[in-house]
Amino acid sequence: MSTAKMIFHGSDIEKICEVYQLKPEEIVKFGANVNPLGLSEHVKEQLAGRLDILSSYPDRDYTSLRSIISEYCNIPVEFILPGNGSSELIALLIQERNPKHTLILGPTYSEYSRELSFSGSTQEYYHLREEDNFVLDVDDFCRTLDGKYDFLILCNPNNPTSSAISINNLRRIVSFCNERNIFVMIDETYVEFAPDINEITAVSLTREFTNLMILRGVSKFYAAPGMRLGYGITGNLEFLKKMKEKQVPW
Ligand SMILES: Cc1ncc(COP(=O)(O)O)c(C=O)c1O
Repeated sequence: MSTAKMIFHGSDIEKICEVYQLKPEEIVKFGANVNPLGLSEHVKEQLAGRLDILSSYPDRDYTSLRSIISEYCNIPVEFILPGNGSSELIALLIQERNPKHTLILGPTYSEYSRELSFSGSTQEYYHLREEDNFVLDVDDFCRTLDGKYDFLILCNPNNPTSSAISINNLRRIVSFCNERNIFVMIDETYVEFAPDINEITAVSLTREFTNLMILRGVSKFYAAPGMRLGYGITGNLEFLKKMKEKQVPW
């Protein structure tokens, strides 16, 4: 069978087995960047001991979940919007923001571009360069941003380069965008893999700026993509409320 034109996601095990005539146990997975250490034993025990919760609908406001996330991120509980993985929140944020001109820091996760293609936004990439070790030149980046865009997408640390922007540089970028009415989406799906989260997370900036939302989840570091749990963090409570209104309940 010719595989030249087959395009599928690296975590689509059923498809890979079919195309390459393999059994699932013959595959070593590198396609989804999920922590190879797997789900923690503690999480397994807690889940196994509480299976009866599947028989009831969850609290629509996720009060207890949001309070745990608030403690984990050291951020007010009202800044948090849980979602069906960060994927749901990427889609919802773009839909609600409805940008006209988007700049994406690349090369990066292709889902941003796919979601943007459903909106009316133009999309352009500012590419990190291998010869710079994928380190961002913030001055040049801000010059590019100036005057042309109303939406910026950053993945930090970035998939696939694994390079990260420091909190000081993030503050410069978000502040620059704030003065120019550019909303910033920062995908921190991989942030827990960083040697020091505090060096690169933009969570503290949500207390200072309302032009940003951070997205996180448990799929990668906590090895739980099947749980479909992500969360957004923003100090822009009006925007968060609008996103929540559009969300499918539960
Ligand atoms: C950068 C990035 N963001 C988001 C996602 C989607 O994660 P989730 O399982 O939380 O929807 C992925 C998955 O590959 C990713 O690489």
